[in-house]
Amino acid sequence: MSINLLKGCRTGHLPMAKVAVRFICQVCGTSHNRWNGKCEGCGEWNTLVEEVVEKHRALVASASAPIPSLYTIDDPTLVDLTKVRYSTSFGEFNRVCGGGIVPGSVILVGGDPGIGKSTLLLQIACDVSGHTPCLYLSGEESVQQLQMRAKRVGVKAEHLQIGSCTSLEEIQNLLARHKNTKLLVVDSIQTISSDALEAAAGSVSQVRACSQSLIHLAKKQGISVILVGHVTKEGTIAGPRVLEHMVDTVLYFEGERHYDFRILRAVKNRFGATNEIGLFAMEQHGLAEVTNPSALFLSDRAQGISGTAVFAGIEGTRPVLCEIQALVSKSYLGMPRRTTVGWDSARLAMILAVLESRAGFTFGSMDVYLNVVGGLKINEPAADLAVAAALISAIINKPINPSYVFFGEIGLGGEVRPVHQTEARLKEAEKLGFLKALCAQKKGVETSLPIARLELLKDLSRQLA
Ligand SMILES: Nc1ncnc2c1ncn2[C@@H]1O[C@H](COP(=O)(O)OP(=O)(O)OP(=O)(O)O)[C@@H](O)[C@H]1O
Ligand SMILES: [Mg+2]
Ligand SMILES: [Zn+2]
Repeated sequence: MSINLLKGCRTGHLPMAKVAVRFICQVCGTSHNRWNGKCEGCGEWNTLVEEVVEKHRALVASASAPIPSLYTIDDPTLVDLTKVRYSTSFGEFNRVCGGGIVPGSVILVGGDPGIGKSTLLLQIACDVSGHTPCLYLSGEESVQQLQMRAKRVGVKAEHLQIGSCTSLEEIQNLLARHKNTKLLVVDSIQTISSDALEAAAGSVSQVRACSQSLIHLAKKQGISVILVGHVTKEGTIAGPRVLEHMVDTVLYFEGERHYDFRILRAVKNRFGATNEIGLFAMEQHGLAEVTNPSALFLSDRAQGISGTAVFAGIEGTRPVLCEIQALVSKSYLGMPRRTTVGWDSARLAMILAVLESRAGFTFGSMDVYLNVVGGLKINEPAADLAVAAALISAIINKPINPSYVFFGEIGLGGEVRPVHQTEARLKEAEKLGFLKALCAQKKGVETSLPIARLELLKDLSRQLA
């Protein structure tokens, strides 16, 4: 195994730019003329930092460039870039991107420290480099460290060009010298700085300027760029929020520290469905894809315990079954506790209220805990019915038949509403050996899985009693 090293990157000559001192909010990126305790853009306190920024050069209209029309039916040069995507051997990654990496697109990958961003991108870059010229640049690790990781992960890296650099100008130079590069990975955007700005690397103006310049480069030369972005403790990508608007695709790499599996989630995609997830497991030899998520999430299911229900959900375009657990215990607090993990707490409050008013269950003096097993986060209202089932099972202290699966939205009137992709959910449940689905009435659904059709929440409590 060997990795091609890039040697002697020179810093290029940039035209001198006018500079000015501005005060930039490190949270929202708003620029102020003078220092202020409070940012006028986002209202945060003590976030303004003095930065020397480049003044915009005057735009000179190019007289020679004609303005093309949007679309000409018989234009033979018009290539649908979404049809010539670079695909990797990671089906999970391809799907999250909408079917592979679109040439000239910019992908931002965010994630907590140590979650495996560099590992994932190194594996992907090695993979793509088998058929497409790739350049992997790290501002965080030395070349030797990259080589060590590649060796540990055991990737085929003969064709991957790697380098360690922290300067935008150096990246531009490298790309000028490696004209055939089609995929550029920059790990991470917060470590890259431009000589034209005096602000420190990682500051809002550097992050914005460097990403702008890389995006421009991607669009102009048709190079796909993958940027790694650090996340703040609030869980958003560090730097200006505009960064997410500027790029084509935003992926978050998430996972619980205590579990091996990682979720790659598309939160924005100009070339594919959002909310698509890809599943990986962090193993000794790097990341391996998990192609059967439902089996993973249901693998350690406890038997014979009250308060757990299986939800047939849809993540992006794919059905994913997972377990929802509820615990109800007598409260010793003036205001009983309502704790949720992986589910919206306002939604829990609503379901508790509906269970109380429409189905006669009282949770008033009880602490209620709700947990989506495996660290998955669910935001589909279709999980209402599974949540209600887990809560009912917990409060009557009677386990639910382990071969039941639930999905359906609950209305304030206590009615159970049908949800989209009913057939896909039923098919997945059947594939995993479930024997009965409890869901809403939906016309025209064909399935061989027995269904208990529910109209009202009361029907559910009758099924579980
Ligand atoms: N020798 C090893 N054996 C098994 N797993 C390892 C080993 N070394 C590292 N790892 C795994 O790789 C993870 C770090 O991956 P990686 O460096 O790709 O993360 P990252 O998201 O790029 O982190 P950072 O934010 O620091 O750049 C560790 O958390 C660990 O789980
Ligand atoms: Mg890293
Ligand atoms: Zn601000």
